[in-house]
Amino acid sequence: MLQKIKETADFIRNRAGGEIPSIAIILGTGLGELVYEISDKNEIPYQEIPNFPLSTVEGHSGKLIFGKLGGKNVLAMQGRFHYYEGYSMQEVTFPVRVFQALNIKYLFVSNAAGGMNSSFEIGDIMLIEDHINTFPEHPLRGKNYKELGVRFPDMSNAYDKDLRRMAAQIAKENSIKLQYGVYVGTQGPTFETPAEYNWFRIIGGDAVGMSTVPEVIVANHAGMKVLAFSIITDLGVIGKIVEVTHEDVQEAAKIAQPKMAYIMQEVIKNLVTG
Ligand code: HPA
Repeated sequence: MLQKIKETADFIRNRAGGEIPSIAIILGTGLGELVYEISDKNEIPYQEIPNFPLSTVEGHSGKLIFGKLGGKNVLAMQGRFHYYEGYSMQEVTFPVRVFQALNIKYLFVSNAAGGMNSSFEIGDIMLIEDHINTFPEHPLRGKNYKELGVRFPDMSNAYDKDLRRMAAQIAKENSIKLQYGVYVGTQGPTFETPAEYNWFRIIGGDAVGMSTVPEVIVANHAGMKVLAFSIITDLGVIGKIVEVTHEDVQEAAKIAQPKMAYIMQEVIKNLVTG
């Protein structure tokens, strides 16, 4: 595994040509349009990257993009790997290990999620304050490589407080409505039954989705600072639950994404980094 990570990081370093950013961004379902804000792009399709899994789900085109956002160098992943696609947790989180090998310090993540909090509306952006992991497999299960992180990582600041404060401030200054809450990560691929949405609400969740938690766990193991957002694309609120399709999720995500992109861009602008 260490060898594979190194090989992929070396390949990306060579292909990047120039400076490697200290910020990486993982773009979720229907949230790929942030890449239009990135300038001076240098793109690498996943299929050209050694050891990288291939993205299979509709709406994820699958490439790494180097470029500039908010005046800083960034590395964006357009298309992520989901556990429900059949990838192992090691495959789902492999790109984050490669980011670690590239010395990336900040990880920004976006996803589409169903809202369980009754004050949420479709199209809201939720700043993830914390998560609950209900995936059936843990990405750090198995041998721990000291080079990658400690055996028992702390998760008390999994979504970095300072980054969250910056994002909240930017949203406030620009009158962008921002919700706050706990993201429940679940394997999918089914959306939840009404009883399951209710269960996730009872255990403390505000939104639920099928991604993010594995990558954020590995990013924390790797010592990165994480900032993550959910776009609320459907509601799992008793009395407001309607049939939901992947197309609805993509549509709702599309509408909300410029606001999320703006917040991300402004946070990046304010980071003290190269
Ligand atoms: N549940 C799980 N994942 C999702 C949802 C949902 O309601 N909406 C978007 N991704």
